[in-house]
Amino acid sequence: MPRPRVFVTRRLPQEALDLLAAETELEVWPGDERPPRDVLLRRARECDAMLTTIEDRIDEELLATGDGHLKVVANCAVGFDNVDIQSATQHGIAASNTPQVLTKTTADLAFALILAVARRVVEGDRDVRTGQWNHWRPFAYAGPDVHGSTLSILGMGQIGLEVAKRAFGFEMAVYYYDPIRRLEVERQYGVRFCHDLPSALKVADFVSVHTPLTPETRHMIGRKELRLMKPTAILVNTSRGPVVDNTALYEALRDGIIAGAGLDVTEPEPIPTDHPLLSLPNVVITPHIGSASLATRTAMALLAARNILARLKGEDMPTCLNPEVFKARRR
Ligand code: GLV
Repeated sequence: MPRPRVFVTRRLPQEALDLLAAETELEVWPGDERPPRDVLLRRARECDAMLTTIEDRIDEELLATGDGHLKVVANCAVGFDNVDIQSATQHGIAASNTPQVLTKTTADLAFALILAVARRVVEGDRDVRTGQWNHWRPFAYAGPDVHGSTLSILGMGQIGLEVAKRAFGFEMAVYYYDPIRRLEVERQYGVRFCHDLPSALKVADFVSVHTPLTPETRHMIGRKELRLMKPTAILVNTSRGPVVDNTALYEALRDGIIAGAGLDVTEPEPIPTDHPLLSLPNVVITPHIGSASLATRTAMALLAARNILARLKGEDMPTCLNPEVFKARRR
């Protein structure tokens, strides 16, 4: 019997590729660039499984193309706004993501941004390199303290909780806003629930965003919300760029409505080098590296590979996003 065909859309950690190669006919798109759309569509028609990244658009057109052949799309990310899950289900295609394995690494980066913006780490580094720092001054690079301050977490999922745990190490008071109240988390960790977004924004010295991108969360932080924050507050986003309205954020930072921002994600990505946000000293922008530790990227790729193999063998997938697909249509 021919082995199932698997298409991996990027060069990924070898351990994951070896795992797939042992049991499938594996094709890995060479290099780090995304495959062109026509290649992606062709592979959807030819392959049994695809291992994708957040840059690959897995939409109705692609899933319809794969209908009848493609059995699983494993997205190598916890976020899956690039995958049309409803359409995947309609076409009988299972989809998976990579939760848990990247939680702590992403929380580390959120904290790195909190510290970097507050303590003006990048600005200072830039000035040292360009010779603009010539002597010690009492007020130079003086920002707010992180320790002992107040943090609001927007979206108390796994990553939000890990950020809260780090904040406790810095003796911060932690509030959260989430459409679902987490009483158990409140009891266990002492985080405080805000009944609405405005309360979470008003109380905080730091606001860290951890919501998935959905139609409801698109531009959840806009002009009105930024005006509710303290003028000394710092906004950090490690979730998805479009959750924050960049234009409103630029204006708020320029006009002193808030004090700073740390962004691992932007809209669009990459942010154009002439974007006004990049002209501001009080913004730190990293290139979507929340999960970018070697160990975590390997764990993500392995989890995606395990999802594919499980689906191809008819076993339970470790992290299936649309288990209803198995009830709807047995393939
Ligand atoms: C990265 O952005 C992810 O969702 O894993």
